[in-house]
Amino acid sequence: MLRLDGVSKTYRAGAFGGRHLTAVRDVSIELRPGEMVSLIGESGSGKTTIGRMVLRLTSVSGGAITFDGDDISTLEGRRLKEYRRCVQGVFQDPFSSYNPVFKADRVFSMLRTNFFPGVPDAEWRHRVEDALISVRLHPDAVLNRYPHQLSGGQLQRLLIARALLLDIKVLVADEIISMLDASTRIDVLNLLGDLKDRGLAILFITHDLALGNYISDQTVILRRGQIVESGVTERVFTNPLHPYTRQLLTSVPQLHRNWSDIDTALAVAPGRCAYHTQGGPTDGRQLAEAEPDHLVACLATGGNTSCPDG
Ligand SMILES: Nc1ncnc2c1ncn2[C@@H]1O[C@H](COP(=O)(O)OP(=O)(O)O)[C@@H](O)[C@H]1O
Ligand SMILES: [Mg+2]
Repeated sequence: MLRLDGVSKTYRAGAFGGRHLTAVRDVSIELRPGEMVSLIGESGSGKTTIGRMVLRLTSVSGGAITFDGDDISTLEGRRLKEYRRCVQGVFQDPFSSYNPVFKADRVFSMLRTNFFPGVPDAEWRHRVEDALISVRLHPDAVLNRYPHQLSGGQLQRLLIARALLLDIKVLVADEIISMLDASTRIDVLNLLGDLKDRGLAILFITHDLALGNYISDQTVILRRGQIVESGVTERVFTNPLHPYTRQLLTSVPQLHRNWSDIDTALAVAPGRCAYHTQGGPTDGRQLAEAEPDHLVACLATGGNTSCPDG
């Protein structure tokens, strides 16, 4: 349904835009109906950039993103609006998505103005209530309230309800549970599971390997803008092949370690390069198929130079 094919993103950096920073390089991901893909990587690895390209909030520098076969960069006018009805995002900080001086239900009235001007009042109210109930919010508990009167979990759900009103097919969820407390996290994850069962494709972006992976179908591990490993979640987690993925997995409980420690450990690890033992690229790019539905990149991918074969 939604495909990223060899997608790259280069930003102009520096005061006069003279330098360039490649934030995403040659990334291919497929989102299918009823499937959740976890996109996992440390801070700065390009996750949000990927989400923003999918949402067409920023342009693609190389490669293409297609939705039902159409290159989304070519969409304009009515077709772009149609795309936005199908593909929506919910972001990290639920509080920043709300203007504190307006009541929370303003997100719904703006949606109505933009997308559903012809829907009568009673019908609209009905649709809003349905959407709220499907994210397990009681309409009376959230409508007519100011953002500061609601919890982070309630605001996050309001945003998901807003997306649902558009009858979306793809949801980009960028770090949406990182800021929630543990029990609210589980609720929101369960909600995402329900949405998946209803046929939504979900791109679940997280820097935290421990979050939400149990409900994702596919996992993509991103390092410095490049995919180092991807595949069926269970295979990636039970048989991690890239040393970076292994480092991520082993460091999950070690909260005292930071990412630079992991990088150092990776640089000196003699680690067997699964990519080279598998004979190189099988997807036409930088990933080798180590087993069915499980791809791995060379150890050197993402700036590491210690691959003995590479
Ligand atoms: N608008 C921008 N202009 C220039 N550089 C950017 C911009 N947005 C992000 N970057 C840079 O791109 C890289 C990836 O950022 P981002 O996609 O936000 O990563 P993540 O979400 O994984 O933390 C970072 O080095 C970041 O500084
Ligand atoms: Mg981000």
